Amino acid sequence: MQIAQLIKSGELNATVTVNGWVRTFRSNRFIALSDGSTIKTIQCVVDFDTIDPELIKRITTGAAVKITGKLVESLGKGQSVEIVVENIAILGDANPEEYPLQPKKHSLEFLRENAHLRPRTNTFGAILRVRHHLSFAVHKYFNDNNFFYMHTPVVTGSDAEGAGEMFRVTTHDLENPPRNEEGKIDDTQDFFGKATNLTVSGQLEAELGALALSKVYTFGPTFRAENSNTSRHLAEFWMIEPEIAFANLTDNMDLAEDFLKYCIKHVMETCPDDLAFLEQRRLDAEKDMPQAERSAMSLTDSLKFVLDNPFQRLSYTEAFNILRNSKPNKKKKFKFLINEWGADLQSEHERYLVEKEFKKPVILYDYPKEIKAFYMRQNDDNKTVAAMDVLFPGIGEIVGGAQREERLDVLKEKMATFDVDEKELWWYLETRKFGTAPHAGFGLGFERLMMFLTGMSNVRDVIPFPRTPKNAEF
Ligand code: 4AD
Ligand code: MG
Repeated sequence: MQIAQLIKSGELNATVTVNGWVRTFRSNRFIALSDGSTIKTIQCVVDFDTIDPELIKRITTGAAVKITGKLVESLGKGQSVEIVVENIAILGDANPEEYPLQPKKHSLEFLRENAHLRPRTNTFGAILRVRHHLSFAVHKYFNDNNFFYMHTPVVTGSDAEGAGEMFRVTTHDLENPPRNEEGKIDDTQDFFGKATNLTVSGQLEAELGALALSKVYTFGPTFRAENSNTSRHLAEFWMIEPEIAFANLTDNMDLAEDFLKYCIKHVMETCPDDLAFLEQRRLDAEKDMPQAERSAMSLTDSLKFVLDNPFQRLSYTEAFNILRNSKPNKKKKFKFLINEWGADLQSEHERYLVEKEFKKPVILYDYPKEIKAFYMRQNDDNKTVAAMDVLFPGIGEIVGGAQREERLDVLKEKMATFDVDEKELWWYLETRKFGTAPHAGFGLGFERLMMFLTGMSNVRDVIPFPRTPKNAEF
C-alpha cells in the first residue's frame, strides 16, 4: 500500500507492507518512512530485540526499505497511525558517509546541484506533486470547456515570436557541413531539407487548429535561446496555449482570468498538505529578510486574494500615464524611466502596477504595435495592437496573448514591416485567404504559474531539471 492511502484509510490492526525511503531513524527505534505519495511520512516502530543488529545499522537516511508490520493507532504526537515492524528488508543501502541529503536544512542552490536526488526532499516532493495536479487541472479545464488538445510540433522551420532566439536542429556534420556554390552552409542537404529549430511557441499551428475545430489548446515544451540568466527565465519551459475562433480580445481576457482562477482553485483543493508545507517553508526562508523584501501576504492568502478579486484591466496608455506620474519615475528610482509613449515596459514597471498601484493581478491591453509580435491585430487607431499581458504579484508577466490579425492584406503589410518571410509562412497566410475569421489566444508560462502557486522565488526550483544558460545537467 502507498503511504497516502495507509494514512487516509488503512485498516487498524491489519498487517500491511510498505516500500519507501528512510527519512530519519531515531533512537534505533523510530523510522520516518516516505514513499513520495504524500508529504507525510509514516512512523515505523522497530523492536531492536527482535531485529538483527546488523540490519539495524543499515537503516540510514536515504536507504530504500520494504517493511511489513501491524498498523496501529499512534500514541505519539504528529501522526494518527504507525506501523509496528515485524519484518524489514533493505532494498538499497545509502551509505551515510556519502549520501548527500542528510536530515538538515540544505540550501536551494545545493539542491539544484543535486537535482537527481532533490525530489526526495519535502520541498521538491511537494513541488512535483503540485506540478502534477496543476497539469491535470489544465487538461480538465479545457476538456470541460469543450477545447480539443492539439499536439503542435516541437521541430519547426518558423520563428513564431520573431525574436530570433532559437535552438537549431540539425544532423549536419558540424566539423564539415555541406556548402552551396556561394560557400554558405547548404540547408537543403540537412535532415528536413531546410533549416529547422526547436519551437518557441505552438501558437501558429494552434491557430490552424482553431480555424477548423473552433477551440483548441496546446500544452508542451517550448525553447528559447535567450541568454537571460534571471530567476524567471528558462531555456526550456512548458507553455499552455489556447486558441479560440470567433473571439475578440475581451473574450481572450475573460478566458485567461477564468482559467487562471480555476487552476489555482484546483491546486488549493487537491494539494492542501503540500501548500501548507510550502507556505511554512516560505515564511521560514523570509524570516531573516528585511521587511520590504518579504512577501506581502502568506501563500494561502495570496492565492485566495487572486481568486476573490477581479483582475484590474487597463490599456497600455492608461498604464503609461500612471507610470510616468509615479513616484519612482519622478524620483528616478526606475532603472528604465518612462518618458515616451511607446516604450516597452520592464518588469520593474509591471511590478509597480501590480504590487504598488493596484495590489492585484493586472491585465494590460492595447500595446504599441512596434513592441509586439507581427501576428497581433491592428487596432483602428493604427498605433496599437489588440495584445494583452496578464501580470501577477511577485512574478510579473505570466500570460501573453492577443487577438490575431485575420485580415490578409493587413497581415501581409505587418509581415513586411517586421521582415517576416511570406514564403516561409505561406500556410499561415492561406488561413487568412480561405475562410478567415476573428480569433484570439494566449500563452501561459507553466513555470511562472508554478512559482506563484508554490511561493518559490526561482523558476529553477519549480521544474524537475532546469535548462538555463551553461546548464543542462541531468
Ligand atoms: O509572451 P510570450 O512570448 O508569448 C508567446 O509565445 C505567444 N506565442 C503565446 C500565444 O499567444 N499563444 O510567452 C508566453 C508566456 C509568458 O507570458 C511567460 O509566462 C512564459 O510564456 N515565458 C517564459 N517562461 C519561462 N522562461 C522563459 N524564457 C519564458 N518566456 C516566456
Ligand atoms: Mg510576452
